[in-house]
Amino acid sequence: MNAQWPILKCPHRIFLYKFLFVAGLFVLSFSTGLPAQTYSQRGMVVSSSKPASEVGVEILRKGGNAIDASIATAFALAVTLPSAGNIGGGGFMVHCNHKGEATSFDFREKAPLRSDARMFLNKEGILMEESNHRGLLSIGVPGTVAGLYLAHQKLGKLPWKELVQPAIELAEKGFPMSWALYMEAKHLRSQSGPGDFMHHFFEDGSGQLTQPGQLWKQPALANTLTMIRDHGPDGFYKGVVAKKIAAFMADHGGLITLQDLWQYTAIERAPVHGTFQDFHIYSMAPPSSGGVALIQMLNMLEPLVPDSIPFNSADYVHFMAELMRRAFADRAKFMGDPDCGKDIPIEQLTSKTYARQSLGDFRWDKASVSDSAACVLQPDERDHTTHLSVVDAEGNAVSLTYTLEDWYGSKVGINDLGFIFNNEMGDFNPVPGVTLRNGQIGTEPNLIAPGKRMLSSMTPTIVLKDEQVFLVVGSPGGRTIINTVFQTIVNVLFFHMTLPQAIGAMKIHHQWLPDEIVFEQHLMSPDTQKALERRGHRLRPVSNLGSLMGIVVDRQKQVLIGAADASAVDGAAIGY
Ligand code: DON
Repeated sequence: MNAQWPILKCPHRIFLYKFLFVAGLFVLSFSTGLPAQTYSQRGMVVSSSKPASEVGVEILRKGGNAIDASIATAFALAVTLPSAGNIGGGGFMVHCNHKGEATSFDFREKAPLRSDARMFLNKEGILMEESNHRGLLSIGVPGTVAGLYLAHQKLGKLPWKELVQPAIELAEKGFPMSWALYMEAKHLRSQSGPGDFMHHFFEDGSGQLTQPGQLWKQPALANTLTMIRDHGPDGFYKGVVAKKIAAFMADHGGLITLQDLWQYTAIERAPVHGTFQDFHIYSMAPPSSGGVALIQMLNMLEPLVPDSIPFNSADYVHFMAELMRRAFADRAKFMGDPDCGKDIPIEQLTSKTYARQSLGDFRWDKASVSDSAACVLQPDERDHTTHLSVVDAEGNAVSLTYTLEDWYGSKVGINDLGFIFNNEMGDFNPVPGVTLRNGQIGTEPNLIAPGKRMLSSMTPTIVLKDEQVFLVVGSPGGRTIINTVFQTIVNVLFFHMTLPQAIGAMKIHHQWLPDEIVFEQHLMSPDTQKALERRGHRLRPVSNLGSLMGIVVDRQKQVLIGAADASAVDGAAIGY
């Protein structure tokens, strides 16, 4: 054996160790920065959890289409990624078939019928701290089960039961607790709440915290999923599950009643459409602000000549920040639930003419100023959501983003039912008429009203080239989602980056208020930072923005290329 390693004994071994150390750092820097890419010739599923991606691919292998695979993956994520995967939250799905025809499904949560615009204010009209993000009042009527079912009814191929069954098995038989999940479990064990739900959530059968590598089983969740498998949405919105939810809410001061649950409906909506060069973009319409803002920004960028604006230069960051500022000002002014309140001028906002007008006061040498007097308070969105992208063998695609809002949502659950409720009520504008420079918004279109859907930033998007699916993307990240998806699309379409390069490249975020550029700290040079400050920008470093899950369809090479952001440590792009 030793004879095979003589070099370790030679006088140059110090040099060798140094070389290995430096090479290791080099590899590490690449492996943490750029996600690995996966190739496949038929179908692909990319999600933030490997066991969930495996479930989706298995459905594709069985002959399921992209809708089927996305439904099965979403139910599996409700088991394996409980921080964001859910049946107690809501979200959006954009679908595009192989003929280039797009549609979308809105399963955003709704405000309970007993809610009102001032429910989070005290007698003096002041926002009670964190009240819209914590506890039972923060819970919106969940939409996920209804949304996945509606998509299945309209476009699914395999039987519903076959799509829910893999999640039941994951919950019943368990799956190995990952290190990342274990670290979350340790932290959450200290959380209290009705029934100490989070305290017991990660326990094994003997009341101990499930250890890394040990199978984590969730029998109560398996039972709830079984009701959904056997009865469709009625298994959740009616019958025993609904009764338990309503009784729990009544006992603990929540607002959701049986009527809220019976009345919940998901909606098929026309997606927002825009063009960029020769590409067609389909994304989510209100009540998500994502699609409209994305298309507004692409329209503003389109006239620019790529070679005139080097990626990551001060000019580039300045220009991108100014586009974002303008799109987010419009978001605050116009966006909310399209079914409650005034019409949203989607056509005008997404027109090329409007983009030109928006940039009328743009200057290369000077930052604009975000004028909070023009509007009122934005809700403080949190950081945990999850996205999945699917392409099937026929060339149909699904881009699905759903959420509990905060990390593990409201952290409230019912021991018997085994799932966590969202805290999505925090996405409404909490104080009517009050917009602050810290980013809190109080504009009319997104005030709380009974049965209304809260405004979202989720941006599940599909890009077509020659009328066929080319790119499927989405991300978590609260309001940063819109800009993360925007920049990833720009990186691929405008700068011709590969998908892993586009995902790993530096991202910035500007949301009008607060008036600052948030940037990924290790990826912007000090010189660029100084140049931006000289133009009047305020900068704020963060370690990471977004967690993209994407697929590119390379028709020339006849291959699908999938990549999961390196920040999703349990994520995986799996093809077959
Ligand atoms: O709907 C929204 O835009 C937010 N509730 C999403 C929250 C979120 O993305 C947190 N993610 N990481």
